[in-house]
Amino acid sequence: MYVLGIETSCDETGLAIYAKEKGLIAEVLHSQIDLHRLYGGVVPELASRDHIKYLLPLLEEVLAKAKMKKNELDAIAYTSGPGLLGALLTGACFAKALAFALQKPAIAVNHLEAHILAAQLDNPKLNFPFLTLLVSGGHTQLIRAEALGVYELLGDTLDDAVGEAFDKTAKIMGIPYPGGATLAALADEAKTHDLPPFPCPMTDRPGLDFSFSGLKTHALLTWKKSSQDERAKGAIALAFQEAIVKTLLIKVSRAMEFTGYKRLVVAGGVGANQALRQGLTTLLSSSGGEVFFPRLAYCTDNGAMVAYAGYLHLAKGEKDPGLNIEVKARWPLSVGS
Ligand code: KG4
Ligand code: ZN
Repeated sequence: MYVLGIETSCDETGLAIYAKEKGLIAEVLHSQIDLHRLYGGVVPELASRDHIKYLLPLLEEVLAKAKMKKNELDAIAYTSGPGLLGALLTGACFAKALAFALQKPAIAVNHLEAHILAAQLDNPKLNFPFLTLLVSGGHTQLIRAEALGVYELLGDTLDDAVGEAFDKTAKIMGIPYPGGATLAALADEAKTHDLPPFPCPMTDRPGLDFSFSGLKTHALLTWKKSSQDERAKGAIALAFQEAIVKTLLIKVSRAMEFTGYKRLVVAGGVGANQALRQGLTTLLSSSGGEVFFPRLAYCTDNGAMVAYAGYLHLAKGEKDPGLNIEVKARWPLSVGS
């Protein structure tokens, strides 16, 4: 069984082909970062237009890489939400049209579930149930993953997502969009700083929810009072990253205790953060647990995770609901979704 996966929920056009026995056999990715940098953030209409421009050439490219013809595909999986409506529609319409022309099923994939499953691509022995820390540009969630399609949200952010807080803090200090990874690199280079520790939001009260907008404001005030040079940038980046990692570690420990789960899966773009990866590895090994990360390229948006999620749902017997095209800007992962 060969499943084509199509990801267009935000600013990456990703296509990949997952095969039953062989696993992932080809993937291609086009990032729109250069397009949006000029505006300091993703411009939804430009994102949609760019997806339309690249979908067909990328399909040809991924098929050529896999040495396959279109009619050898058995199903088309596509991200149907959550994400930017226009961007989602480009992928959904493309996938539905292709599936109709080939008379093959089209499978709608939840982007968050695809992120959760991404770690399995490199760890095929990773079985349910497990706890997931989903940390991306749009989400900061702790999720009890019981089985394929069966998830329970345990904790969520009340305001900014952690990736968003990274990007906004970077922007405050003049680092171009999306500054999260650059901010993290500055923090790693700085190694030490002499600032008082930044606050770890909502760790002084029970519960598994997050809030990061106050931390971003704290970074802004510290930056305004600083010498605003490279040294100050590095120090603030490091103090900010330390507070984020510490907060996430505290909440993960609580969630492990609450669920009794020993396996943690990390998902989403901020999962590429080295300090977070190190912190979680140490935490889980000291508590007798195990942590699974996707490879760096599968932390951020990609077609591989969509092809894989579509394949799993198809293998479970999921059917194409028909010709209607439905996308969802919001699509929470809840039990039975
Ligand atoms: O999962 P993703 O590609 O897109 C969403 O679905 O949101 O995540 C993108 C987010 C951005 O906010 C980006 O700045 C952040 O992940 N990010 C990082 C790192 N690499 C990407 N944040 C912190 N450290 C990194 N190394
Ligand atoms: Zn994502």
